[in-house]
Amino acid sequence: MVTLLTFATTVLSAALVAQAKPTHDDPFQRHTIKAKGIEASFIEYGATITNLWVDDKNGVPRDVVLGWDDTTQYNLQPGIPGFLGAVVGRYANRIGNGTFSIDDTKYHTPLNEKNITTLHGGDMGFNRLNWTLVDKSKSDISFRLTSPDGDEGFPGTAEITVKYSVNDHQEWHIDYEGVSDKDTIMMLSSHGYWNLDAFTTSDTVEDHVLQIASDKYIKTDGSLIPTGEFVDVEGTALDFRSAKSIGQDLQEATECGFDCIGYDNCWLFSDPNPEEYQATVYAPSTGIQLAIKTDQAALQFYSCHGLDGTLPIKKKKHHNRGHHERRCHKEDEYVQKYGCLVLETENYIDGINHPEWGNEYSGILRKEDTYTHHAEYHFSIHQD
Ligand SMILES: *[C@@H]1O[C@H](CO)[C@@H](O)[C@H](O)[C@H]1NC(C)=O
Ligand SMILES: *[C@@H]1O[C@H](CO)[C@@H](O)[C@H](O)[C@H]1NC(C)=O
Ligand SMILES: *[C@@H]1O[C@H](CO)[C@@H](O)[C@H](O)[C@H]1NC(C)=O
Repeated sequence: MVTLLTFATTVLSAALVAQAKPTHDDPFQRHTIKAKGIEASFIEYGATITNLWVDDKNGVPRDVVLGWDDTTQYNLQPGIPGFLGAVVGRYANRIGNGTFSIDDTKYHTPLNEKNITTLHGGDMGFNRLNWTLVDKSKSDISFRLTSPDGDEGFPGTAEITVKYSVNDHQEWHIDYEGVSDKDTIMMLSSHGYWNLDAFTTSDTVEDHVLQIASDKYIKTDGSLIPTGEFVDVEGTALDFRSAKSIGQDLQEATECGFDCIGYDNCWLFSDPNPEEYQATVYAPSTGIQLAIKTDQAALQFYSCHGLDGTLPIKKKKHHNRGHHERRCHKEDEYVQKYGCLVLETENYIDGINHPEWGNEYSGILRKEDTYTHHAEYHFSIHQD
């Protein structure tokens, strides 16, 4: 059994954490929360979402996130694919040259991507750590992590909590919170790989229809590090202001690294409106639509061009009603290139190395401040 610890306060003090003596009885055990029409499971490892069930247009429950049936594989095969369903941090996305400065002090973080950039917090980012389940009810669950001073090169002992909740409006909410005892940088995100067709009719998400309410993206070089420029989406493959299928301009989408076709870009929201969804995507086959609302200034959309047929499509039925029917039932079905999409709500990529963008995009977390981030994922059936 997992020890459940309830914290009434939002900011966790280091003293409380030391007393709590968290245990990891089984970081790979699934914990499920549910509300009307939505059910989600998580494991402590990476504070990872392993399953998210919502009904399709025929009322059949579908699991729309990728993951492993055998949850120990998240740890045994962390690169297939990377960051699968996990919370990424301490600094999501990339840090150019694995180098940054806070005031006059220079820090170095692991070059875990092609030996030239730090991706999602380094070799042992938050996605690879065992978090502690600290609170759970029928419809919400919270995980906590202590990242020590110097962890992956980042300064300050940081305390992070992530609260996941679902409600009867078929919404999944994430509330992230972090503090540090020294000035540090912090940017957290959820790295779910979505497939709203649940592999019922297609191997890829090219049919999925996506809309992103943004008119600018961050220009990046071949290693996906910002050049500093913002580009107008007008007339580019990255224009998702009007809904279009992901496949429509895919062949023209080449700003995703060296020799690459696909999307791996960061769209900007000049003034995120808390009343509006920043991104909406649906699969015509199942009708399942996901709308995302966040208080963050940017959204990274990755079109899973790195998926290469090594992650098996989930087989097991974890849901208590209905069944997970797929188009075919071969033993050896794997997720193919473009078989999913990732939508990360976050701050500007590598803002710490672009002070000219302004302090609010730097990702600096001062020791007296609290990092907060809210994101919600609203599921519904798309209406034409
Ligand atoms: C790049 O990283 C190396 C080693 O981490 C460091 O010595 C160098 O100063 C960095 N270059 C820049 C431009 O920050
Ligand atoms: C990474 O780059 C450093 C410095 O250029 C080099 O010494 C090292 O061999 C490289 N490592 C790998 C795995 O390519
Ligand atoms: C997470 O827990 C598993 C199971 O106890 C263990 O094998 C693994 O080494 C732990 N990971 C870390 C980074 O401590």
